[in-house]
Amino acid sequence: MKLKASTVYDCSVIDVSKVNNDAGNITVVENGHNIPFEVKRIYYLYDVPSGEARGGHAHYELEQFIIAASGSFDVILDDGVNKKRVSLNRPNLALHIVPGLWRELDNFSSGSICMVLASHKYEESDYIRDHNEFIKLKK
Ligand code: TYD
Repeated sequence: MKLKASTVYDCSVIDVSKVNNDAGNITVVENGHNIPFEVKRIYYLYDVPSGEARGGHAHYELEQFIIAASGSFDVILDDGVNKKRVSLNRPNLALHIVPGLWRELDNFSSGSICMVLASHKYEESDYIRDHNEFIKLKK
């Protein structure tokens, strides 16, 4: 399968907005409205021990919205040439990750929740888990 020629500059932080009142906030993410792909799967990371890193892989086709539903963490994006570190710390901000990029997540605050909205169901064949292979495929 061909790996997409995407770069870290194709990813952006999107303000998915919020409805706020004195009793708190609601943020809504809705297919066909404020997300640029159809959501097929939602999963979340939590209880990440202090100092741990997650991710460490790329995807051929999967597109994602990554949201700090609680607390904060960083996402490091890598296209084989450029790297970009994005800090997420508000539940109304979503990092849009396009396919074809290596990513790692670190710097998780205590009690943080990383919510991921994904464009496809889980498929191990969509993963590249070896960084050397990723670099080769990206050339
Ligand atoms: P992985 O995507 O490698 O986690 P991370 O990027 O957060 O480090 O997945 C970790 C394990 O969980 C792996 O064995 C596959 C499994 N998994 C599923 O079964 N379904 C899923 O939707 C996801 C995201 C992971």
